[in-house]
Amino acid sequence: MTASVLANDGRVADELKAPMTAIPLKSAIGEAAYNEAMASGEYVYVGDGKCRLCHRDFFIGRKQDMHDHSMRYITQSEHRDNPKCLVCHATGFGVKSGFVSMEKTPRLANVQCEGCHGPGSKHLKIASTKKTGGGFLAGADRPDRLKKICKSCHTDRWNRSYSDFESSYAKYRRAVPK
Ligand code: HEC
Ligand code: HEC
Ligand code: HEC
Ligand code: HEC
Repeated sequence: MTASVLANDGRVADELKAPMTAIPLKSAIGEAAYNEAMASGEYVYVGDGKCRLCHRDFFIGRKQDMHDHSMRYITQSEHRDNPKCLVCHATGFGVKSGFVSMEKTPRLANVQCEGCHGPGSKHLKIASTKKTGGGFLAGADRPDRLKKICKSCHTDRWNRSYSDFESSYAKYRRAVPK
């Protein structure tokens, strides 16, 4: 099953021949903002176990969201440690404190909350002291960045599940009701 899914999808072979995709977070916010944010040390990936503590509603349909299963084929294949795949199929691969491997960082497997919103440590600090949102590199207050981060993974090659932002986001949210 696993082998056939990978072998029958011609996009995998094309991807293996292509240069490595740029880190989605970096593409979404721009290199200068990315470098500054990483140098500040304020943005660390925490894993979605933390998000669940306050955003329980978002986890009700989480199992129906394909992002939460995005490593199911890869982890069982010869590509399980391939940076060319993990850059889009894991959370924060290539970013300091992001996914490294199933052995070292299993809590950051698949495309989690922070795969779209960026590292959550600053938000955690703000949310637990001020009880408000804020602190994300791609938070709800940065719709431009959120749109860009979708397209950084859902490229022309990988766009079967993605049309325009509104309907694709609606499709994702149908899996994550609130
Ligand atoms: C201590 C509680 C708490 C934790 C833990 C927490 N949040 Fe929040 N979050 C809040 C509150 C309060 C708000 C503001 C009210 C709202 O929008 O629900 C918020 C708002 C948000 C928003 C919308 C506003 C914005 O800044 O973009 C996003 C996105 C978000 N949280 C994502 C996350 C993610 C991802 C995690 C895990 C990394 C997380 N939160 C962990 C309490 C928390
Ligand atoms: C630029 C980001 C990106 C890269 C790089 C990438 N993928 Fe994907 N992949 C996606 C997206 C997005 C989807 C969702 C399908 C779609 O929208 O077309 C996907 C879907 C898949 C699927 C189909 C899953 C299913 O449910 O049928 C397989 C298999 C897959 N990728 C394997 C790989 C492998 C193996 C690599 C590395 C050689 C790789 N991908 C590299 C973004 C990427
Ligand atoms: C596929 C990308 C993606 C993932 C994964 C994702 N989000 Fe979001 N989230 C968005 C986008 C895009 C918006 C802004 C939508 C808008 O502008 O209407 C958003 C908005 C939000 C908001 C504020 C709006 C609202 O509906 O309350 C919160 C809170 C939030 N996300 C929390 C989370 C949590 C918690 C997780 C993990 C369980 C998560 N998000 C995973 C893309 C994502
Ligand atoms: C870090 C990479 C990444 C980002 C960022 C990302 N996606 Fe995805 N998305 C994926 C992958 C990988 C899959 C396929 C998972 C699978 O089928 O194995 C996917 C699947 C989907 C699906 C199909 C879900 C289903 O139930 O069939 C939708 C819809 C989608 N993404 C919308 C979005 C939207 C909207 C955004 C931005 C708000 C976004 N994605 C951001 C990687 C990403």
